Amino acid sequence: MDANLKIPTHVGIIMDGNGRWATLRGKKRSYGHNAGSNNVDRIVTHAFNRGVKTLTLYAFSSENWARPKEEVDELMRLLKVYFKKFIKKVLKNKIRLFVMGDMSKLSPDIVKIIEEDMEATKHLTDHVLNIAINYGSRSEIVMAVNKLLAEGKEVTEQGISENLYTAEFGEPDLIIRTGGELRLSNFMMYQGAYSELYFTDVLWPDFDEGELDKALSSFSERKRRFGKI
Ligand code: FPP
Repeated sequence: MDANLKIPTHVGIIMDGNGRWATLRGKKRSYGHNAGSNNVDRIVTHAFNRGVKTLTLYAFSSENWARPKEEVDELMRLLKVYFKKFIKKVLKNKIRLFVMGDMSKLSPDIVKIIEEDMEATKHLTDHVLNIAINYGSRSEIVMAVNKLLAEGKEVTEQGISENLYTAEFGEPDLIIRTGGELRLSNFMMYQGAYSELYFTDVLWPDFDEGELDKALSSFSERKRRFGKI
């Protein structure tokens, strides 16, 4: 890749297409979620090697509870396995883990592992891996506004930004969606007001280093004007 590429500081990814990836192979959807889960570290490693500072991954939306119980259980199992293994990897990779979303609906054992991971890595500053679980952008905005009101503060744009889960990490410069759909699905809608968007038909388990490089190259060519001329 060109060494002069402009690398986004914060990248968000909507990891879509696991189910279709499995169906194409005549397998159950959980097979696709397993493959998708195995793809996470490959992309995390590559993004951070390329110079991305913060990577936000949409792992489970607040709407995903409506899926069949078997599928929800499998996704929760994969997340638990991922977070359990995270600490060992983190020691050598210096990645801070953050999880954003409403934790109150998750099982206490997953919440405990997440809290331990977050606590153990909160001093790391090189890279942040932010995983959205039971996350929805609209409820995040409502939460931020309610916090301001509860503190008797005026509701301002800055005030809302400062009370979003991502307050510390800033807004995503680039949002990638795999799997061919052209929508944001309630993902970082406030933070993403000026994000560059990149959509690809490639299904998440097939989204490899080369595909991420294509998204980064596309970002590098964009002229960001933030509403100005
Ligand atoms: C969308 O594919 C994907 C999800 C709803 C879950 C994303 C989860 C993972 C990649 C695995 C676990 C994550 C981590 C961080 C370990 P879909 O099921 O909507 O696919 P479809 O659109 O083809 O049906």
